[in-house]
Amino acid sequence: MIKSLKRLVNGEKGSERTKEELLEVIKSVPLPEHVAIITDGNGRWAKMRGLPRTAGHAQGMKRVREIIRAADSLGIKVLTFYSFSTENWKRPKDEVEYLMKLPIEFLKTDLQELMKRNVKVQMLGEKSKTPSATQQALIEFEEKTKENTGLILNFAINYGSRDEILHAIRQIIEDVQNGDIDKEQVNEQLMGQYLLTKGLPDPDLVIRTSGEIRVSNFLLWQLAYSELWFTDVLWPDFTDEIFYLAIEDFQRRSRRFGAV
Ligand code: IPE
Ligand code: IPE
Ligand code: MG
Repeated sequence: MIKSLKRLVNGEKGSERTKEELLEVIKSVPLPEHVAIITDGNGRWAKMRGLPRTAGHAQGMKRVREIIRAADSLGIKVLTFYSFSTENWKRPKDEVEYLMKLPIEFLKTDLQELMKRNVKVQMLGEKSKTPSATQQALIEFEEKTKENTGLILNFAINYGSRDEILHAIRQIIEDVQNGDIDKEQVNEQLMGQYLLTKGLPDPDLVIRTSGEIRVSNFLLWQLAYSELWFTDVLWPDFTDEIFYLAIEDFQRRSRRFGAV
């Protein structure tokens, strides 16, 4: 049974609709094409339970799997997870090492299912700065799934939006200097071609968990007109039900893109 989000968060009893009823509602209205998620709150979830922060990341990984399944079953086209930022290297060595092992683990446990689901996995971020075993796993994910034509699943790992934008600017300057493009051709569309999200639609819906109301260097260019959805729920507690509620909320919004 589905509780309202407030009830879910507060753990109150009571239900209004079954999950199936909620699914029927969201399937009857156009879905967001691209959903991007800032999966925050793993550390606090663990701390509340007297566990090491890594236990929060392990539980968070399970939620990633659950939301991939939910998004794929719904028929969402693009799903992006912000998994590790360029700033997250500042964390304790043990935690960083643990986080860098997760993709290797995930490859072992989930590649088969992702292949079956026809999911195409892509990485956003500088892979070469990650440990070599991690890098290998990331490359293997991309290689093995590159012909898949279903859900596009992006993991932003060692991703920073300012880095991405600076890199694009440098590349554009170089191409102008080489005469490959003309200065006059530099517009929003061209800029999009130089970003890591090249070829992908901008996120329609950006979800952030854990009660933080900020974007933390995530897709700054791309989220110009995204609908933002924040919840106090910590990522390891984020269920498919909450995902559906976020989508339902998105579907009720009026997107004007500056028009009337
Ligand atoms: C999100 O959870 C995962 C990563 C940033 C890698 P956190 O680890 O940031 O959890 P909190 O915010 O400290 O609770
Ligand atoms: C954002 O979470 C990055 C990821 C979820 C990977 P952080 O926990 O790093 O963000 P801040 O430090 O609270 O802004
Ligand atoms: Mg955090």
